[in-house]
Amino acid sequence: MTNRWAVKITAVGLGVCLSLAVSACAQDSSSDARTILVFKHGKLAARPGALAAVLREFERRHPGVIVRDEVLPSTSDQQHQFYAVNLESRNPGIDLLAADLIWVQEFARAGWIRDLEDVITSAERREFFPAAVEAATFAGRLYAAPWYVDAGVLFYRRDLLERYGFPPPRTWPELARTARAILDRERDPVLKGFVWQGKQYEGLVCTALELIRSYGGDLPAGDDTAIVEALVFMRSLITEGISPQSVATADEETSRHQFGAGHAIFMRNWPYAWTIFQREGSPVRGKIGLAPLPSTPGQASSPVLGGWTLAIPTRTAHAKEAGTLLKYLTSPEVQETIAKEIGYNPTRPALYRNNLPAHHRLWFEALYPMLEAAKPRPVTPYYLMLSQAWQPELSAALVGTKSATAALASLRRQTAYILSLEADWSVSASTTLGDWREL
Ligand code: GLC
Repeated sequence: MTNRWAVKITAVGLGVCLSLAVSACAQDSSSDARTILVFKHGKLAARPGALAAVLREFERRHPGVIVRDEVLPSTSDQQHQFYAVNLESRNPGIDLLAADLIWVQEFARAGWIRDLEDVITSAERREFFPAAVEAATFAGRLYAAPWYVDAGVLFYRRDLLERYGFPPPRTWPELARTARAILDRERDPVLKGFVWQGKQYEGLVCTALELIRSYGGDLPAGDDTAIVEALVFMRSLITEGISPQSVATADEETSRHQFGAGHAIFMRNWPYAWTIFQREGSPVRGKIGLAPLPSTPGQASSPVLGGWTLAIPTRTAHAKEAGTLLKYLTSPEVQETIAKEIGYNPTRPALYRNNLPAHHRLWFEALYPMLEAAKPRPVTPYYLMLSQAWQPELSAALVGTKSATAALASLRRQTAYILSLEADWSVSASTTLGDWREL
């Protein structure tokens, strides 16, 4: 046993070595009837202690089970890289993982995660937003449980807009005009107009897709003129000085820090940032508002649906206990707690109406219509391939190393190649989070 491990450790390196150490520990401890569940998730920006408290409560309710939560970097791309290497290994040493909803099709198809048919009944499935369940369903089976949902939203400095008599902008050109006017009057060298996520990673795809859709286009299919218009607008935000050059290297946390320090008038981000901005000592506490992302005249606001799910690796030795932990973490009780404490928004529509304390209800009410409008990225096992082909092209158009037209032509060529890999290719990205009403 030791020899085999030693060989594997040399062969695949430190990441897996650590995983093996953990599972060895889990096996040793089974002799005294303890099960150690390893739960991997991304770094929390707000109050990690709140999740720890939730996990300790689980242990209290399940004597003999210990949950060890192990934290990965915060961006989706870095976490995906980790799983793509580790879930292939014979013993990944992970019992439960938080998966971005865009990975579930890929992980299910690769055989890396178990289906949850025996864990979550079809009646229970109906309690979640259908678009989130759809994203987590592959070949008719559910492979991950929706843990929290995200939608792109616009944060704005209410105090500054009020000072100069501007309403929250409804269109992108209006946002640019408002930002310009306030920047010109404030004359504050550290103040930026609009910060967002333009680094070459998944966040850029989300931001670009929101812009493209709000110009009447879409990816992978969609009208070329609308896509080019959206890309040209994105670049103009930088060239016109509405957004700093640094947006081209910014991820969620970079923008959140900038806006949170009071250094920007507008920010595109996910809702988690709100909870952090309301903390005592936050420079923007009480000064900000939240609005749907702007659009263009005649087009609806088009936030992208984001969010995270919980999945059980195929090669866990503790599937049953992991299922119990998954159900607990997605229960109404825990979803309500993490919504209030961490700002992760529930995947259960019922929780947006229930008897929450007034200030949370207000927050949920403001956010709910924005979540309802959220539209998924293409739901397919090849999504990551598409995204990785799109990212450099979108980035090139943003920083100006390629014209929008040239970037789109290259993006189209690569997309056609990826789509040609699979005959029964289908992309379902038509339902918004709010479509459950009509179902
Ligand atoms: C957020 C979203 C996730 C998305 C990521 C992009 O974490 O929840 O779905 O892929 O941001 O950066």
